[in-house]
This record gives sequence, structure tokens and C-alpha cells, in this order.
Amino acid sequence: MHEDIQEVLFTEQQIQEKIKEIGAEISNEYSSKNLLLVNILKGGVVFLSDLMRYILIPHEIDFMAISSYGPSTESSGIVRVIKDLESDISNKDVLLVEDIVDTGLTLNYLMRSLEVRKPRSLKVCALLDKKARRIVETPLAFKGFDVPDVFVVGYGLDYKQKYRNLPFIGVLKSEVLP
Ligand code: IMP
Ligand code: MG
Repeated sequence: MHEDIQEVLFTEQQIQEKIKEIGAEISNEYSSKNLLLVNILKGGVVFLSDLMRYILIPHEIDFMAISSYGPSTESSGIVRVIKDLESDISNKDVLLVEDIVDTGLTLNYLMRSLEVRKPRSLKVCALLDKKARRIVETPLAFKGFDVPDVFVVGYGLDYKQKYRNLPFIGVLKSEVLP
């Protein structure tokens, strides 16, 4: 536990078990494909590093960094690419690895900007799905957990760049939030 956390939603063990399952599903589905995991920095980095070790088939990884404008707990949908991919994705089966899908605006923007590069396929793997806040519908091919409409931190997810190192996912105490 941590003094700023009100409640743990998913323990380290629950997260690891779930990711192992997702890794097995991905290994199955992509066994005869040319898998490239595309990770969105920085929130998704903890998820990726565990997930890739549960994927038992050869694959590559690449990173993108984006920044969304607006207040730190709200998504504006206006996204700026800070670091682009190094790989040519035209012969790749791209799987976007995201920490959390909230409004879906960030993911929608990314999907559209990757689609124009004509990957062989393009799908999404998200650890957390905050469905209640969805504005743009985005199909999640692989998913970890549903989360209620609360601000969560830990396991890569931050509030003002803090709490990413917590091994569990939890809800912040309201007095910590603005
Ligand atoms: P969306 O564009 O609203 O789907 O927001 C996606 C991004 O907002 C995620 O990749 C996170 O970086 C951030 N985000 C959304 N909800 C949370 C949360 O509960 N905790 C931490 N970050 C969040
Ligand atoms: Mg993110």
C-alpha cells in the first residue's frame, strides 16, 4: 500500500495472472504473423515489459511518445507526436499496447495516423478499459480489466508523473487530486 492510495483495485498477482493469459492469446493468434508491439510511452511501458515476456513467439517492439494537451486528468483528444516509430510498419502486424483507454480519443488519433502507413493489420491491446467515459468507439482485441470511472494510478499509470512504480493498480485518495 501507499499513503496516497484509497483502495487497491488489482493486486500485483492479479495483474501478472491476467497478463500471462493475454500473452498466451496473443502468442496463439499471431503465431504465423509478423508481430510488432507498438508501445505508447510512458504509461504503457510497465505493461509492455511484462507482456512481451509472456509472448512466446518472436516479435519486435517499437515506441511512440505523444502528449495530450489540457488538464492532467482529462483527455482533450488533441495529440502531439513527440517521438515517432523507428520501424517501417508496412509489412507488420501491429499491436498497439496501451495502459488505459478512457475517452478513446488518444487511441483513435493514433489508429488513424498508423492506418495511413498501411500495416498488414492493426489491433489494440489495452490493460484497462474505462468504458463509462468512452467518446470514440475503439475495438479492443485484447483487454485486461474493466475499471470504473475513477482516476487510477500504479503499474505505469501516473498522476502528475508520480505513482508509476507501484506494482498494483489503485485509486488515489480524493485529497490528492485537484
Ligand atoms: P483517452 O484519450 O481519454 O482514452 O486517454 C488515454 C490516456 O489518458 C491514457 O493513455 C492515460 O495516459 C491517461 N489516463 C486516462 N485515464 C487515466 C487514469 O485513470 N489514470 C491515469 N492515466 C489515465
Ligand atoms: Mg497512455
